[in-house]
Amino acid sequence: MSLGIVILAAGQGTRMRSAQPKVLHPLLGKPLLIYALETARSLTSFPPLLVVGHGMDAVRQAVGEGVVYVEQSEQLGTGHATLQTQTTLEGRVEEVAVIHGDMPLLTPTTLQQVAQARREQQAPVAMLTVMADDPRGFGRVVRGSGSEVLRVVEEAEATAEELAIRELNAAVYAFDAAWLWAHLPNLPRRRNGEYYLTDLITAASGAGLPVAAVTSADPDEVLGINTRVHLAEAETALRRRINRRWMEAGVTIVDPATAYIETEVTIGQDTTIWPNTHLRGRTTVGSNCLLGPNTLIADSAIGDGCKVIASVVEGALMEAGSDVGPFSHLRPGTHLAAGAHVGNFGELKNTTLGAGAKVGHMSYLGDAEVGAGANIGAGTITCNFDGQRKHRTVIGAGAFVGSDTLLVAPVRVGQGARTGAGAVVTRDIPDGALAYGIPAQVKEEKKEK
Ligand code: UD1
Ligand code: CA
Repeated sequence: MSLGIVILAAGQGTRMRSAQPKVLHPLLGKPLLIYALETARSLTSFPPLLVVGHGMDAVRQAVGEGVVYVEQSEQLGTGHATLQTQTTLEGRVEEVAVIHGDMPLLTPTTLQQVAQARREQQAPVAMLTVMADDPRGFGRVVRGSGSEVLRVVEEAEATAEELAIRELNAAVYAFDAAWLWAHLPNLPRRRNGEYYLTDLITAASGAGLPVAAVTSADPDEVLGINTRVHLAEAETALRRRINRRWMEAGVTIVDPATAYIETEVTIGQDTTIWPNTHLRGRTTVGSNCLLGPNTLIADSAIGDGCKVIASVVEGALMEAGSDVGPFSHLRPGTHLAAGAHVGNFGELKNTTLGAGAKVGHMSYLGDAEVGAGANIGAGTITCNFDGQRKHRTVIGAGAFVGSDTLLVAPVRVGQGARTGAGAVVTRDIPDGALAYGIPAQVKEEKKEK
C-alpha cells in the first residue's frame, strides 16, 4: 500500500523560550527534526510532507531538499495543519501517517506497527499510545467499556477523572487516505479556535468504526520535546540507545552515561571508550582502539589499534597503531601514518607524519610533511605564517630535529639531517647534514687528509 508521511512542525515551540524554532534545536549533533525525517524516509519512497509555519525559512534552510514543504500560515491546530497537505497528497497515496516533528526517538519499526495494525483491523485510523506515570501534558486516551478507544481528551480540557488516566496519546497516527480526506475538512472548531487532529478518533468511534491502538512498550520512544528539560531527557535516552547498540556490537563503554556518540559514527570491535569521550560527525573508529578519557573526536578516521587520550582530534586521519595525547590537538588535514606518535601538548594542522615519526612534546606543526621515522624534539615549531601567507615545511625521513628548533617556512630539512637545540632554521638543510645556531648554519664536514 502506498504510504505518505506527514510531519507537523509549524508550531512555535513557545515553551523552549528560544529565538530558534524548536525543531531546529540540536539533538546529539543534528537538528531534532532530522530524526523524524529519517524515520519517514526509511518507510516510504514517497517524499515526506513537512508542514511548516513558524521559523519556516530557517527550517527550510536546515532541512534542504527531498522534502515537500507545505505552509500553514496560521497555526490553527494539528487537524488544520494536516488539512494543508490534502491538495498535495489526495489521490496519490492510499495510506497517510501523521507524526510530529518534535518526537525524534520514534523508531521506524513502531510507526510501521501502527500502520500494520490499521490494515489488519481494517480501521480507518490507528494510533500509538503509551502508558506513563508522568503525563507531560499529553492527551489522555479514553476507552469504552469493551476497552475500545473512544477519544482523546487534551489535558487542559480533561476532568479530574480523565486526568488520572495513564494511557497517553503519543501522536503517531495512520489513516486510510480516502477516509481521512473525507473527514479532515469537517473537523469541529474548538472553543480555542483550533482544529484537533485527535477529533478524527472521535469521528471514527462515533461512527461505530474501529480505532486500532498500538501501545508502546518504550516510553522513551514517545518523548515529545516541548521544553529544554525534555530536550536533555531525549538526548540521554538517545545516547542510551546508541551506546547500547555499540556495546552489543562488541565495543566496551566504561561509563555509558558519559559517552557521547553521534548517530553517524561507526566503531570497530574491542575498542574501549573511556569516560567523557565525544565521537562526533562522520567519524569512523577501527577495532582495538583506546579512546579517552576526556577526548573529542570529530569527522575523523581512526584506524585499528589507535590510542587517543585526553585530546581533541578534528578532521584528521590516524592510521593503524598511531597515538595521540594526553593534551594534544589534531586539527583538520592532519594525517598520522601507521605507528606515528604525538605525545603531550602537540598541535598539528594540515600536517602529515610519516610512519613511526614522533612528536613527543610541546610542538606546533602546521602545513608540514614529516618523513617516516623522523624525531621531532620538544618545543619544535614550524613558523608557517609570515603574516600574509602560509608556507610549507618538509622534514625528510629519519631526520632528527633538536629541541626548541624553529623552522621558518618555506624550508626543507633533508633526510637523516639534524638540527642543534635552539636552532632557527631559515634555509634548507641538505640530506644528512647538521645545522645549528641562529640563524642556523650547516656544519662543515672536516675533510680527512
Ligand atoms: C498533541 C496532541 C495530544 C498529544 C500530544 C503529544 C492534539 C490536539 N493534541 O498535543 O493529544 O498527546 O500532541 O505530543 O493533536 N503543529 C502544527 N500546526 C499547528 C499546531 C501544531 O504544525 O497549528 C505541530 C507542532 O509544531 C508540533 C505538533 O504539531 O510539532 C504538536 O503540536 P502541539 O501544540 O505541541 O500539540 P500538543 O499540545 O503537544
Ligand atoms: Ca507537543
